[in-house]
Amino acid sequence: MLLLTTLADMKAWITARRKEGKKIGLVPTMGYLHQGHMALVTSAKRDCDAVVLSIFVNPLQFGQGEDYEVYPRDLKRDSQLAQEAGVDVIFAPTVPEMYPRGKQKTFVEVEKLTERLCGASRPGHFRGVTTVVTKLFNIITPDYAYFGQKDAQQVAVIRRMAEDLNMNVQIEVLPIVREADGLALSSRNVYLLGTERESARVLYQALEKAQQEIAQGEKDASMLLKVMTRMIEQCDKAKIDYIEIVDAFTMEPIQKLEGSCLIAMAVYIGKTRLIDNVLVEV
Ligand code: PAJ
Repeated sequence: MLLLTTLADMKAWITARRKEGKKIGLVPTMGYLHQGHMALVTSAKRDCDAVVLSIFVNPLQFGQGEDYEVYPRDLKRDSQLAQEAGVDVIFAPTVPEMYPRGKQKTFVEVEKLTERLCGASRPGHFRGVTTVVTKLFNIITPDYAYFGQKDAQQVAVIRRMAEDLNMNVQIEVLPIVREADGLALSSRNVYLLGTERESARVLYQALEKAQQEIAQGEKDASMLLKVMTRMIEQCDKAKIDYIEIVDAFTMEPIQKLEGSCLIAMAVYIGKTRLIDNVLVEV
């Protein structure tokens, strides 16, 4: 496995693989890898001849006062995991390598889909995501790119971006990988201290409760939101940022469940903001 840190080396490697007619898969990450990331790698290995895993904690997608500086980083451990999984190249550029002239003057922005949910709580976040993902697509020119349903709004936004801008890449989406007790794996779970880890279960417990209600015929979004809100509010370490039920493609709120619906939430457990969601087909 190679570890490349410059755009020039990355592009040269891609050019060589293209000459060999290799199909290239990209797994974009911010590192501190866990089994959620590795499930994307496994899928990429299955579909592609060469797999690039990018590791870049992208300053552009973090807001003022967010966790950019303290975001967990461990390239040594990540390299071991990536090698074991059969990744061909880790692309881990520095910030000046990705943003050489200081502040970027060109941005990619998806309208509407970015207004609600995490887009409302984290202004500018999705602009940072779509801009860096576009840059990675331009540098690596992948045939396939892999994303997790864990970040459901990110998936909807990137799919729309790729479609609207005729990007030559197939977007593949993999289901959420969870701990045994239901907590969705996240690099940010290391922030959970002491009993907060136990409290963090409440996100998935609320989502499971909603799914049970739906299975019993409940279709009224406001009823479901009420049940989930009550459950989460009973946990004294939890503070709801948002809970919404939206159309899975447009991210517009729905009153009566129909078609592909996304139940999505962001909840603070102590100081740690966690997100989770389930996709329900009604
Ligand atoms: P990061 O949070 O590192 O996640 C990288 C990819 O792994 C994303 O597509 C995310 O949805 C997926 N992922 C994370 N946890 C998962 C889980 N429990 N199950 C399945 N997939 C999971 O998302 C980002 O980085 C960045 O925004 C990025 C796309 C790299 C742009 O900077």
